[in-house]
This record gives sequence, structure tokens and C-alpha cells, in this order.
Amino acid sequence: METAGKVIKCKAAVAWEPQKPLSIEEIEVDPPGPHEVRIQIVASGVCRSDSSILSGKDPKIQYPIILGHEGAGIVESIGDRVTSVKPGDKVIPLWMPQCGKCEECLSPETNHCTKDLLPFKKNYIPETVSKLRCKGKQLHQMAGISTFSQYTIVDDYAVAKISDAAPLNKVCLIGCCIATGYGASLNTAKVKPGSTCAIFGLGGVGLAAVMGCKTAGASQIFAIDIEESKFDIAKELGATKCLNPLSFQKPIHEVLLELTDGGVDCAIECIGNVELMLSAVQACREGRGTAVIVGLTAPGQTIALPPTAVVLGCTIKGSLFGGWKSADAVPKLVSEYLNNKLKVDEFISHSMPFDKINEAFELLNNGQSLRSVLLF
Ligand code: APR
Ligand code: ZN
Ligand code: ZN
Repeated sequence: METAGKVIKCKAAVAWEPQKPLSIEEIEVDPPGPHEVRIQIVASGVCRSDSSILSGKDPKIQYPIILGHEGAGIVESIGDRVTSVKPGDKVIPLWMPQCGKCEECLSPETNHCTKDLLPFKKNYIPETVSKLRCKGKQLHQMAGISTFSQYTIVDDYAVAKISDAAPLNKVCLIGCCIATGYGASLNTAKVKPGSTCAIFGLGGVGLAAVMGCKTAGASQIFAIDIEESKFDIAKELGATKCLNPLSFQKPIHEVLLELTDGGVDCAIECIGNVELMLSAVQACREGRGTAVIVGLTAPGQTIALPPTAVVLGCTIKGSLFGGWKSADAVPKLVSEYLNNKLKVDEFISHSMPFDKINEAFELLNNGQSLRSVLLF
């Protein structure tokens, strides 16, 4: 491409400080260095985690930053020694990378590549050099990818090549919510045919978890949200009963214990609310239930867990990026979508031009959208 080797000037949504609207600015993106890939972003979803970061509750987040981690695009150019992708390839950037070499990548037990740049990880060190600049200032990159920009740079282990036939304005959601929720059910909870499941929270992540339970053959899928407008889509994706906690006098886990005559086999929390994480644990069937925590909370929050809940045999697990080894799994999930085995279109409630990004955040924060997709 004619831009290869040159600095690209393009538009990006810059977060100069927390709790303020994003600002569409002209930024400069350097050519990719060794093992780096420069991507032209075509579409990006807006996820709860983008909004949570902007809340400013995590002191590890450094500003100015470009958010966005649920995108899809086309490789513009590659640096030296990049072999995984080439210019023109359709790709999804990976916030959970897969370097293929670290101890965790080599282990079949986990998908947590040690190269990830998640601020809540124990080993997190904010990156010091970014190849993105605005008004002379270096811009930080969310999770090493930053998809709220017309162009971005990622490491070559943080990108998955996907099918040329993939519509990028749809499959971008596989970059976060679909993989996260779907995998939480299939890989982390390991939902079994005939089992009973409860999904807490019906945003993009929770609905994908509902879809995973259905794919796994669960016979009962309880879908829980205070926003009843989510119930129709939850049923479309496989929920057998929808519950609004506000309609009951008793806590929702007690309702679930009654409805299931003793508890669910699997409960997945997809909200980021510590009380509901506890509810998920307490809704589990004694002796063999599994609670999976997917939602992210502000730093410092804790779950007030009675030890007996664990003694009585509940397994508590966490799930990041649905437990998928990302570079291996994302192209397969895209193929499943292209073969009509995975639903994605249903998750998109709004599509809008990139420069309307603050409206997308408002819709998310007011509970009016399921997923907004920004088109570049
Ligand atoms: N009880 C039940 N449902 C609730 C409650 C509550 N107290 N509070 C919020 N919800 C529902 C919202 O109505 C919404 O439908 O939880 C859902 C959350 O959806 P989104 O905000 O769209 O979040 P999503 O992008 O799906 O992410 C969910 O996973 O990856 C993490 O950081 C992410 O913690 C977040 C979680
Ligand atoms: Zn996300
Ligand atoms: Zn790795």
C-alpha cells in the first residue's frame, strides 16, 4: 500500500482524561516496527469495559489513551519479521494475545498469554512507548490494541487473520463480547447437555453466554436482568425463562433455588456486580454447581463469600476472553458465524459513524443499546 513505511495521519477518539467525552482528533501513527502490524480499523463495537475504564476508578490507567478493544480491520502494512499476517488481510486485534511461546500459551490449561496488557493483571506494567501521537503527546493504548482509531498498531501475536468473506462490521463483536460470553459457557463452565444454567446480566457478554449454554445443550437456561427489554433477544438465543430480580421480594438466588429444586449446575455472572457474583455462587447446586465470574469490577471491590458456600461443593471459576486461545479460536469463531452456526447480527442494536462515538457511550450508559458498532 502506498502508505507503507510512512507516518499516517488519521482520526481517532482520544480520551484526554477520565469522565469526559472522547475527543475526535487527528493523530499520527508511525510505521510498524519489527514484529508489529499496522491495521486500518473498519468497525468497532463499544463494550462495557471501555466505559468502565473511562470512569477513572482504576489508577493504573494512564492518559491520554485510545480505548476500544472489539474491532476488526484490514492490515495496512507489516514490520520486519511478521509472518502471521500480510497487507490486505482481514483481521481482528486480540486484547488477549496468543504469543504461542510463553509458559501459559504452551499450557493446555489456560488462555492467559503472559504478553497481555490488562491493567488488572498482577504483572501489569503500563507500556512506555506507543507509536500513536496527538498534539506531540504519546497516546496510551488500551490492552495494547486501541480500536477507536482509523489506524492502530499491534504486536504480531495480538492479531488474528480471519476469512476474506467476513463482514467486518459484524464480526468485530467476536473480538470481545461474543468470544467472552460464548466461551465462558463452553470452555470455562463446560456446560453439559441437559444441565441447568443461570446467566446474570444480558448485555453482549451475557447473551453470548446464553448462546453458549444453548449450543452446549443445556435444558434450562435462566436469563436474569433488570432491563426487561433484553428478554426477547435472550429467548431468541436460547433462554428458557427470563427473570427480573426487581419483580421478586426475595434475592434472585433464592428464586433460582426454588425454581430448580436445589440450584443450578452452572451460574455465570456477566455484569461486574459483586453482590450478583455472590448470588451466582449461592444459586449453585450443592455438591457440584459451578459459578463463573466474567464481569469486571472497579479495583478494591470484594465478594463477601461465606466459606460454607465453597465447603458445600461449589466450584468458583473465572473466565477471560472465554478461555479461548485467541489466535487459534477467533478465525474458527468467524467461520462458525459464516456457516450460520454462531449468531452475531442479533447482538447489534445500533450502527453509527465513528465520529458519533460519544452517542454510543451514552446509549450504553443509559441501558438503551445492546451493542453499538462504530463504522470508520
Ligand atoms: N441485576 C441484573 N442485571 C443487571 C444489574 C443488576 N443489578 N445491573 C446491570 N444489569 C444488566 C444490565 O441491564 C445489562 O443488560 O447487566 C447487563 C450488562 O450488560 P452491558 O453493560 O452491556 O455489559 P457487557 O458489555 O455485556 O459486559 C458485561 O463483562 O467483560 C465484562 O467489563 C465487562 O463487567 C462487564 C461484563
Ligand atoms: Zn470487552
Ligand atoms: Zn503467550
